[in-house]
Amino acid sequence: MNPSFDFSGHVVMVTGGASGIGLATAEALAAAGASVGVADLQSHAARDVVEAISRSGGQAIALPLDVRDAAATEAAVAELEARFGPVGGLVTAAGLSRPAPAESMDEASWDLVVDTNLKGMFLSCQAVGRRMLAHGRGAIVNISSVNALGGFAGRSNYCSAKFGVTGLTDVLAIEWGRRGIRVNAVAPNGVDTPLVRNGIPPSFVTEVLENRTPLGRMAEPAEVASVVLFLLSDAASYVTGATLPVDGGLCAGFYTNRQGADLASAALLKAGVYQA
Ligand SMILES: NC(=O)c1ccc[n+]([C@@H]2O[C@H](COP(=O)([O-])OP(=O)(O)OC[C@H]3O[C@@H](n4cnc5c(N)ncnc54)[C@H](O)[C@@H]3O)[C@@H](O)[C@H]2O)c1
Repeated sequence: MNPSFDFSGHVVMVTGGASGIGLATAEALAAAGASVGVADLQSHAARDVVEAISRSGGQAIALPLDVRDAAATEAAVAELEARFGPVGGLVTAAGLSRPAPAESMDEASWDLVVDTNLKGMFLSCQAVGRRMLAHGRGAIVNISSVNALGGFAGRSNYCSAKFGVTGLTDVLAIEWGRRGIRVNAVAPNGVDTPLVRNGIPPSFVTEVLENRTPLGRMAEPAEVASVVLFLLSDAASYVTGATLPVDGGLCAGFYTNRQGADLASAALLKAGVYQA
């Protein structure tokens, strides 16, 4: 991505920064001048990301972290500030999916997904938010999903967590807005990351995701990262409490088929306006 925002002098923590959307966001932020805390459960991968950023001339530190652990989160934010100074940005991209039919969803899968994707996000927002409140300035972007806007079979745990992310984002925006902190979320559709490649069959990608998306493809992680950078930046200075779809048009309508080429009308079909 060609970064069009200047984050020189900004310190930003990215949870889930070792892979996928978080990785692309960490790279984009570093390329735009930010000092980045790459926080992730995969500590080796986080260190690899930091090394790559350093080789490209950027600044970053690896923060081994389980976002479900409040004390560890507090320690990671403290380490980031000790290294680079007051934290002004947070991106919460740590997340995972454990699908199962609702009637056979086991408690461990429910707890893992909700604890990581919702409680972990809250703990990151709380730890970083407290420091932002002390500085009187900051911006947070939570990585949500189109699964915060509608249901998805087999994902009772994931959708419940993502709907919760909307509530969390809205409440924090209301509580912290007058104190200088903006809180927004992005809601991606399918993004080409390990989470999707390892978790969804290729037939679902072509026959459902691509078929129902007007832009006709999944997003690249960098296409989500660029929207995150916008929301973190002063270009979005009057935007808070928003959940912004980054979805290739998926949520623009319910009946999209063949990327919008199916006009779903017998009369138009008969008139030869389009082909079935
Ligand atoms: N890929 C998609 O299609 C897509 C679509 C919509 C939303 N999302 C959301 O974007 C976020 C990132 O997903 P991704 O596709 O980049 O996945 P990914 O698997 O590529 O990256 C997720 C990262 O989170 C880390 N992580 C998981 N549990 C953690 C924990 N307890 N503590 C710290 N780090 C932890 C993983 O180690 C990994 O590096 C998730 O919240 C996901 O729900 C993804």
